Amino acid sequence: MALNGLLDIQIAVPNPQELFDFWLQHGMGATADGVLGTPDRPVQMQIAEGTYRHLSSMHLSCDSEADIAAIAKRLTDAGITSTSDSTSVRCVDPIFGHAIVIDVGSPHSLTPTQKRAFNGPGELTRVNTRADAVLHTEMPVVRRVGHVVLGTPHLAEAVDFYSNVLGYRISDQIMKGFATFMRVESDHHNLMIQPGPTSYLNHYAVEVDDIDAVGLAGSHALKDERVSSIIGVGRHNLGANVFWYLQDPSGNMFEFFSDMDQIVDEEVWDRVHRRLDWEGEDGPAGFAVWGPNEPPEVFFSPPDLPSIAAAREANGLK
Ligand SMILES: [Fe+2]
Repeated sequence: MALNGLLDIQIAVPNPQELFDFWLQHGMGATADGVLGTPDRPVQMQIAEGTYRHLSSMHLSCDSEADIAAIAKRLTDAGITSTSDSTSVRCVDPIFGHAIVIDVGSPHSLTPTQKRAFNGPGELTRVNTRADAVLHTEMPVVRRVGHVVLGTPHLAEAVDFYSNVLGYRISDQIMKGFATFMRVESDHHNLMIQPGPTSYLNHYAVEVDDIDAVGLAGSHALKDERVSSIIGVGRHNLGANVFWYLQDPSGNMFEFFSDMDQIVDEEVWDRVHRRLDWEGEDGPAGFAVWGPNEPPEVFFSPPDLPSIAAAREANGLK
């Protein structure tokens, strides 16, 4: 009885067609007007027009009608206006301002990851042929939108809304709330909230099959002169995902990732692994266990934050 899926997101940018076309060339397909997806999951990401770049909608699923009723009640108790029927509830995020829609349902299952043959000491699984990543260097297929990371000066309020009102589960926290990793699926995080001078979309992340796919996807994207690499390839500590962060043609940071920690037994995770007081840059709370470990300034403070803050103010958002 809980939230169980991040179904799709909508991102608003001043140049929606350009961003839409970018993803058509980099691992997604057009499944409807303005809708990007894959055969497994036809609706994953929508691109809308907006005066500034931001997350404009988040679509989640939950197990049952009882979940919808419980979420609607918690929204009312928190003083947040919502509309609902037996199978759906919608509201506006009180901090960031994007739409939130929650339906009874679940994400479409995924075709299992393609298996590449790797050679290792004492185990030769690929002989008399070149590696798959050498033979197949085309853009890997994006499998799913896995998470978004949001920055905000209203950290406590945002974490309270997502965890206590909507029902996200907390997987890990740095310094008791400085940065909070939350999930609705078995992924270690489908949402991370971290500090920012204004409320903004720090990045969105799309999953690909494996580390080779992360490398191939990033390399492929960089052939587009509008794209720049921000940091990668590496493996995060918290969540353990292999990452490569880049900037899309609309100025959004995005991440190709693979191999994230999966939390199926929540009691075991909470008892054995979860900590709410990670700290220190070199330990498990550090950025990466291998690969580049010091994100550039643009990672936490993209240059368009002042214009985003001004646009939010003009739109009456705090
Ligand atoms: Fe990420």
